[in-house]
Formats: sequence, structure tokens, C-alpha cells
Amino acid sequence: MPLTRKAYRAAILHSIADPAEVGIEASYEYFEDGLLVVENGRIGALGHASELLPGLPAGVQVEHYPDALITPGFIDTHIHLPQTGMVGAYGEQLLDWLNTYTFPCESQFADPDHANEVADIFIKELLRNGTTTALVFGSVHPQSVNAFFAAAEKLDLRMIAGKVMMDRNAPDYLTDTAESGYQESKALIERWHGKGRLHYAVTPRFAPTSTPEQLTLAGQLLTEYPDLYMQTHISENLQEIQWVKELFPERKGYLDVYDHYQLLGERSVFAHGVHLCDDECARLAETGSAVAFCPTSNFFLGSGLFNLPMAEKHKLNVGLGTDVGGGTSFSLLQTLNEAYKVMQLQGARLSPFKSLYLATLGGARALRLEDKIGTLHPGTDADFLVLDYHATPLLSYRLKQANSIAETLFVLMTLGDDRTVLQTFAAGQQVHQR
Ligand code: GUN
Ligand code: ZN
Repeated sequence: MPLTRKAYRAAILHSIADPAEVGIEASYEYFEDGLLVVENGRIGALGHASELLPGLPAGVQVEHYPDALITPGFIDTHIHLPQTGMVGAYGEQLLDWLNTYTFPCESQFADPDHANEVADIFIKELLRNGTTTALVFGSVHPQSVNAFFAAAEKLDLRMIAGKVMMDRNAPDYLTDTAESGYQESKALIERWHGKGRLHYAVTPRFAPTSTPEQLTLAGQLLTEYPDLYMQTHISENLQEIQWVKELFPERKGYLDVYDHYQLLGERSVFAHGVHLCDDECARLAETGSAVAFCPTSNFFLGSGLFNLPMAEKHKLNVGLGTDVGGGTSFSLLQTLNEAYKVMQLQGARLSPFKSLYLATLGGARALRLEDKIGTLHPGTDADFLVLDYHATPLLSYRLKQANSIAETLFVLMTLGDDRTVLQTFAAGQQVHQR
């Protein structure tokens, strides 16, 4: 294959470590006038424009953005494809919200045409918001995952998804069985896992909607295939936690249910974890599991405040999740805006560099993909964004008052949203232009 090479000149910023581990100053690299060289879908070089431009071979095209910031693509570690059509559903908390809005909406995915239509809308929305990798819940129907992966494959996106497994405590029209859930998941794994940049996630919805038999078979799938992901929900809502205690009285607590069925591990991501206790955080960290912090959803469904400092104390991997449609925005910038407020309400701070970490490298680490995505290090996938300093009149005016990259970054996260994302690139190809 002939070498294709292109360069992008702008202010460039990426997170290179967790500020909680190395301090803020050592956690990022910033090039005020930087150059990003992309070669065959990967990052070829990153540095100061003044240092790299002289060595660039003649004929390499350089795109110049004098008023923009290049960052890695954002990583959403928890979102639901079949809830795209029900964002902003009024009035309920988790369990009533599921029964009133979620299950009827997800039932529409029995129709493959509907699945294809929504998969296209969903992927466009991810890319419009600068999300280049997501860990995605399908519906119980395999066609939801086929539709999603087929659309993602066309654009060579790095995506992870799985069909929901649920064989009890949901309407008949939306349940599988322990056996059919296992077989359908297996067929999807054979078809998609490891194809291009796609990965499969075994997806028991949450403990209340799976029988012990189904949880056993979910654990079995994880042992049958290497590098599979596992995604589910945990300790989001107090009524939910009480229900899990009633359904699994023999287990120590909610996490212990998943632990018993061998669902913890380095590629396991647990959404929410709002009410996790100290011991549960320790066990999650010990097994290399990750938690998806979903602030817009936790506010919208009245679930509570995620305790990020406790997770940090245990060195637990944390990524950010939009949790659409419990969450109210596809934008990880808006998700960070809400995450900041979650910390404020607990008397803590979320620095803009920790926020950048959570949306990029932290998400990549939660997914064990930090050698491929989440930074702009040479050799990694060229999944990156161009963020426009003049996206709105207010942003433009406010950024004129900013005196540092820290302030610029914080304002981008407070005022920014989909309008801020001028272009999105995946594997070096432009996949969105505002
Ligand atoms: N717990 C079980 N299912 C769901 C879901 O679809 N959304 C959220 N937020 N929590 C859940
Ligand atoms: Zn969810």
C-alpha cells in the first residue's frame, strides 16, 4: 500500500497520564503551535510545528487551523444505541423509567429496518460530538448489534458493542432465554469480534434481569473467547440495590453477584456505581475492572453523586459515560460540565486536565486500549478532533479573556458541545465536518 501522509497544524493538547497519579503538570503535553502528522491512519509524528515542518517531505499537505485545538477523539464508556429515540423522557427514576419508556422504545429494534435507521443516526451523533470510540449497549435483538457494527465498519471506527442479555423481570416481548442469549451472543462474537477495529462486549443488562443460569453462561462466554469485553450496570439507584438484595439473598452485595458469576476482570465495565462502598471499589480495582461515570444520567434519573475521589483512592479505572438515553447529551464536553458540578456538590474539584484525562486516556485505559487510542502518541490510531474556538459567539468572546491552556480547556468543557467539534477524524479519515 502506498504511504498516505497528511499534516495538521494547530494548538495541540493530549493527556499522557492521570493527574491523580503524576500531578497536573506532568499529565499532559501541549503544543501552542503544534503539528500532527498522520500516516496510513496512524499518528506518524507529534511536536512543535517549528521543529517538524522543516523535515516534512515535499508535497505533504498541511491543514492549518489558527483558531482551533486538536485533541484525541473522545471515548464514551457507556451508552445505549436503542435509547436514541427516548432521550429526555419525563418524570421517573430508574426502575419506573425502564418500564415506562425504555422497554417499549427498545422493542422497536425487533425490526431490522428500524435498527439500521437508528444505527446511522446514532453513529452520526457520536461523530458530531467528537466521540470516536464507544462501549455500546444494543437491545436484546441481535439485529441491533449487526446494524451498529455494519455502520461502524463502513467508517473504520474503533467500537465495542453487545446484545443485551435479559431473561427475566422484563416484558415477554423483550426477553431472551439463558440458552438463546448465549447462542445469539456467540454468533455475534464469531461474526464481529476482532473484525477491523470492532470488539464484542458480553452484555447482561443488570443483575435483576438475568437468571443465575444466564449470568453463568455470560461468564462462560468470557472464558471461551480471548479479549472479550463485559458491560453491565451496578449500584445506580437505591431501590435497584434493594431489589438485587431480594433476588440474590445469598450474596454479600450487588458487586458480589457479578463476582460470583465471574464477570469481573480487566475488560469489564460497570456503569454508574453511584452507591458503591469502599470494599466494592477495592474489589473492582483488584480485578482490574472499570467504572463508567455517567453524570448527566445520574442527575437526570435522580440517582445520586458518583464519588470520584473514592475511586481514585483505590486506583480504580474510571471512564466517562453519556448513558444516553438516561443521560441527556451525546457530548462528552457537556458530560464533563456536569461532572464538574458533581464534584462541586461533594466539596471536591475536577481540574480541566483530569477532565481531559477522563474523556480520552482514562477511557482508553478503562477499555484496555491505551496502546491504540486516547492519546496522540506516534503509532496510535489517528482518531482526533478539531475543536473550534469560535464555535459560538459567547465561546469566542469568553476565550479571548482566557490566559492559559488550563482556562481555555475549562471554558471549552463548560460552554462547549457538539457545535464545538469542527471536524472528527477516525483512522486518519475525516468522518465529520460541522
Ligand atoms: N439499568 C438497567 N438498565 C438500564 C438502562 O437502560 N439505563 C440505565 N441508566 N440503567 C439501567
Ligand atoms: Zn446504562
